[in-house]
Amino acid sequence: MSDLKEYKFSYRELDDDSFLSTEDRLLLSKAREVTAQAYAPYSNFFVGAAALLATKEIVTATNQENASFPAGICAERVLLSAVTSVYGTTAIDTIAISYNKKNGESDHPISPCGICRQSLVEFESRVKKPIRLILSGMKGKVAVLDSASFLLPLNFGSEEIL
Ligand code: THU
Repeated sequence: MSDLKEYKFSYRELDDDSFLSTEDRLLLSKAREVTAQAYAPYSNFFVGAAALLATKEIVTATNQENASFPAGICAERVLLSAVTSVYGTTAIDTIAISYNKKNGESDHPISPCGICRQSLVEFESRVKKPIRLILSGMKGKVAVLDSASFLLPLNFGSEEIL
């Protein structure tokens, strides 16, 4: 016997940030703004991430690179580390992610890399709350996902080893 398993998810694509709620638009504007704080002299790809916590506080982070390239860390994981370090197990409602480039346009959404997807999913399961994602460049279309876990089907989780 064999079963064909199917994985599907839906997300919303908006023409621009004017279709977001005021709260979501503010969060995206924080992510866009904080790209200016990224330390990305090697890639010149400046990523900003902003988390809205369940307590309504906003925490921001950026990618931090290093001359020893693998030591660099993405904005998303800097953000999760900061939230956990300062706020413990406080849940995150929504994370907005944006980017800017030294040479080139920032006019479409990017989505988190594989390692960040793994970290986002573990954060969701640890605090038992999905994280909404708002993805957009400095302008243009905006993607809204209801859970980071949509981006990592069949994920490996802590339940296997704890
Ligand atoms: N980067 C992030 O910070 N987040 C992503 O989702 C994708 C990539 C960073 C890593 C590196 O500093 C630069 O962007 C280029 O890959």
